[in-house]
Amino acid sequence: MSPRWAALAVIALGCRGEGDKGEPLPESRGDSTMEEEPITALVSPAEAIDEDPAAGAFALTLTAAPATHVLPGGEQIEGYAYNGQTPGPTIRVSLGDKVTVTLVNQLQQTTTVHWHGLVTPWEADGATWMLGGVAPGESRTVSFIATEAGTFWYHPHMNTDQQVDAGLYGVLIVEDPAEPRVQNERVIVLDDWILPRPENGAIDSQTPDSASPTPPHGETGGHGESGDEGLWLVNGLIAPTASVPSGEALRARVLNASNRGYVKLSGALGAQIASDQGLLDVPQTPDTLLLAPGDRVELLWSLGAEGVTVWDLPYSHAGGPVAGDESALFLIEPEGDAAATAPPTFAHPGQAVSVDPGFTTLTYTFAGDDGKWFINGEQYPEVTVGQVIAGQPIVIEARNLSGVEHPVHLHGMAFEVLSVNGVAPTSRVVEDTFNLRARDRARLLVTPTEPGYWMVHCHILEHEEGGMMTVLEVVEGP
Ligand code: C2O
Ligand code: CU
Ligand code: CU
Repeated sequence: MSPRWAALAVIALGCRGEGDKGEPLPESRGDSTMEEEPITALVSPAEAIDEDPAAGAFALTLTAAPATHVLPGGEQIEGYAYNGQTPGPTIRVSLGDKVTVTLVNQLQQTTTVHWHGLVTPWEADGATWMLGGVAPGESRTVSFIATEAGTFWYHPHMNTDQQVDAGLYGVLIVEDPAEPRVQNERVIVLDDWILPRPENGAIDSQTPDSASPTPPHGETGGHGESGDEGLWLVNGLIAPTASVPSGEALRARVLNASNRGYVKLSGALGAQIASDQGLLDVPQTPDTLLLAPGDRVELLWSLGAEGVTVWDLPYSHAGGPVAGDESALFLIEPEGDAAATAPPTFAHPGQAVSVDPGFTTLTYTFAGDDGKWFINGEQYPEVTVGQVIAGQPIVIEARNLSGVEHPVHLHGMAFEVLSVNGVAPTSRVVEDTFNLRARDRARLLVTPTEPGYWMVHCHILEHEEGGMMTVLEVVEGP
């Protein structure tokens, strides 16, 4: 990280709800020149408290409201938050639980909440095709069963680019009680912010409810693209440190919640045990890991006395690796000198890569530029609705005809990546968000299960809002 950011690495991103006359915020110690870098503890976002005492049920009231984000250096940005915090409360449930969420809309615009990566009944998905949103001052209750274990997330699905960028997002964890317990865990939510500075135009004075489409932060499109203007925060912190007893293991559940920025993790990444859709079939030990907007990854370290720094390498969706400096995202600092012990073993399924059945059910071409983005030459909402049958496997061929990358995301169904440009992966890859590099052609195997109208879109949210979204209808089988 640059020395400037190092000096700022003191205070968590705080949010204050409108009208909250609480404690004054701590002052920045940022401008003092310190001999030693202060350590910021890597704290997971506060977890949601279950409002339903019954076993097997989890209930939560989620209030979307304006909030003032206080950046680590003390700068303030007007935005939004769920229950007064960004990232929003982490929802932690067990496999099979019934989850009931009441969304209360205290914004001045319509909103919804979408459960990214989960298969829910269509009515609970939060996309607004054929179902309206939740108007200002209103609320809506949805429920679904948590049928897959993994690290998922939630965010609005209306005016999505601006609402996510303003700070509406949180993690939803579905735990499988059969998994081994790891002594230490951190939920790590990455988002890129632009500091309010006079040279950044009206950003500091702008409120998200203004008519201007300029979001309040997160304009960088990936680190390296715009110098050091954009700043990656980890749970609202700059390069925080997780202190973990040596000899123990640490599980990190990482989400890239940025509306458009890519993160390329590097360093001693430990073992990658999971991605978007839970445990990998075969765990990996990658040197680098690209997280497109919406991607999740789980890393497992078995720590000895040696510390770890996880870096973000410069990367742009307009051209992959780019020039620039790497910056420290977060650190792990073992306490004590105990040697590393064997890490907990997860029951990775180890299923083989599926054989491509050879047929193509649907082809989606991703194209466009300059704010106009298309799938199959169409812009949402003027789209042709594809139709497939629940329970029947289909193959989707996704082709990127443009010069920039697009993280392809499907609602309501996970997919297996059969091949990219004709080459099958070396182990089974199951995702809900998959980065399609410029000119790539990927074949995706899907067995939809839930009837309804499901969104298919690019998760660079300005592309999605710029038209790069379509609808796939799943109809009940015969
Ligand atoms: Cu993260 Cu349409 O979703
Ligand atoms: Cu989604
Ligand atoms: Cu895109």
